[in-house]
Amino acid sequence: MCGIVGYIGRQDNPRLGLEALKRLEYRGYDSAGGAWFDLGKRKVSVLKAVGKIKRLEDKFPDYKISGRPFIFHTRWATHGGVTEKNAHPHWDCQKNVFLVHNGIIENFKDLKENLIKEGHRFVSETDTEVLAHLVEKFFQGRLEEAVRKALSLVRGTYALAIIAAKDPEKLVLARNSAPLLIGLGQDEFFGASDPSAVLAHTKKVVYLDDGDMAVLTPANFYIQDFKKNRVDKVIHEIDWTLQEAQKGGYPHFMLKEIMEQPESLANALRGRLITEQGLAKLGGLELVEDKLRQVERLNIIACGTAYLAGMVGEYMLEEYAGIPTETDLASEFRYRKPILDKKTASIFISQSGETLDTLVALREVKRKGGLSLAIVNVVGSSVTRETSAGIYNHAGPEIGVASTKAFTSQLALLALLTLFLGRQRQMSFVMGQRLAREISKLPALAAETLKKTSKQAKKLAKKYHKFNNFLYMGRKYNYPIALEGALKLKEISYIHAEGYGAGEMKHGPLALIDKNFPTFAICPTDSVYEKTFSNMQEIKARKGKIIAVATEGDKEIKSVADDVIYIPRTLEMLTPILAVMPLQLFAYHCSVLRGHDPDYPRSLAKSVTVE
Ligand code: F6R
Repeated sequence: MCGIVGYIGRQDNPRLGLEALKRLEYRGYDSAGGAWFDLGKRKVSVLKAVGKIKRLEDKFPDYKISGRPFIFHTRWATHGGVTEKNAHPHWDCQKNVFLVHNGIIENFKDLKENLIKEGHRFVSETDTEVLAHLVEKFFQGRLEEAVRKALSLVRGTYALAIIAAKDPEKLVLARNSAPLLIGLGQDEFFGASDPSAVLAHTKKVVYLDDGDMAVLTPANFYIQDFKKNRVDKVIHEIDWTLQEAQKGGYPHFMLKEIMEQPESLANALRGRLITEQGLAKLGGLELVEDKLRQVERLNIIACGTAYLAGMVGEYMLEEYAGIPTETDLASEFRYRKPILDKKTASIFISQSGETLDTLVALREVKRKGGLSLAIVNVVGSSVTRETSAGIYNHAGPEIGVASTKAFTSQLALLALLTLFLGRQRQMSFVMGQRLAREISKLPALAAETLKKTSKQAKKLAKKYHKFNNFLYMGRKYNYPIALEGALKLKEISYIHAEGYGAGEMKHGPLALIDKNFPTFAICPTDSVYEKTFSNMQEIKARKGKIIAVATEGDKEIKSVADDVIYIPRTLEMLTPILAVMPLQLFAYHCSVLRGHDPDYPRSLAKSVTVE
């Protein structure tokens, strides 16, 4: 989730772009850069730095630089390591076209190959640089014409801000599935990823939609679609504070991140499913593909919520890929005597990629010569640097301490991995197609789940937030979701909550149940539905209140549950991804209603870099 700033107008001070960029630093920062058309030298100058924006600021010269238009970027790496060369802006062979990009160009390998054959020289490992050379290829004096032609060949997502030394009175913006807006100032225009970048200058913004291209000059601007049809837009008046703008208008990052899940799931899946062939394409595993064919046993190793994602993965991988799998807490694994052989691969899951226990467990596997894979959100983090191979979540930065969108995106990647490994083994073509089809529906199903359960989760929180104890139960795929629901509630609302496999109730926890100890039962219509249902009846018989998470259309559940939250129907192995969303929302609202800050729970840190 990179941040973009562009400017054209009366002011000729690129530091203005730097200031605007600082407001976007919350979107992720592993490096930053800017480019401006130097009015004295009549060419574009560039500055880049690895690390926080402050590093870029330190590189600015003491004397006044005078330039416009300008573009700035804060990077959250996807393709290519965290280096100055890979930081944006990127440019073409002639140093004419300069651009910044948020998104992923899916067909960049093919485009790059062709451009290299045509004589273009590349300096970075990024997908973005391809765009600069493509625009160069079509440039004949009018920047917007070249951008239009270039983008007609591109498959992927982008928010782009582009300038050209040979057409310096223009800033061109283009959008497909990545946020971008125009800020309308006094004789000046901004391009930005979100309003926080422009709030210091203007409250008037125009949001671009997918397929829009905006051409801005110092005097005015117009928006067209890629077929040159003019597009008229509404001007929005933003009355958010800077903090509200960074949270996308939501009161907390956690709620924003919960609501972002359709997008983060789409980002996790983008370009990774070949539905017609029933295959998953995981670029990060290409190098070890043959080794993975020989694997006969898997270990999944992680902490906290990531560990619970791993537990769901264990069910997926055993049932569909037929590989014996064991999930372990990293903090336990490192002190056990793990038996690793050449046929065992270890999968490390971590949002931050910096969790010390996970990292130390990874080092132990490497020391023993084991094959390691990683599922990590933060590009360039320690786990990604040390693993043999890996898959990135592309979920964007998760700022709320409680993991939400990273968790569902970990589950989506485990489903992809199951398909990938399953098809290397006995999984049939037809089953592969079925899985791929169902997985591809996840972003839409997540949107439907959030739409249908948001209000109800808030209502239920109002009804139940004063209870001091909760039990969460589920079976099979949704046993880890019971644990995750309980973990979310305790960590941000400080309510005592226990998660159990529903079959365990009569082995102990049933003794706790009375009218003051409500139970969340995760009970979608799946292979263990009847079992969970009878566990619910046992609770009912003890006057325990029940909130059920069930599949749409299940009327029977109402005979036993006091409240029912319905989620859309999907394949059994994918139900956890939808079932967890109302539980995240419930925990969030309980936290707020009890007067806590869900983004920063007491005693907890986002990244646990100590043992
Ligand atoms: C809970 C939570 C933690 C993390 C755990 C691992 O909401 O966020 O339990 O899941 O600390 O962190 P990562 O995934 O960064 O290794």
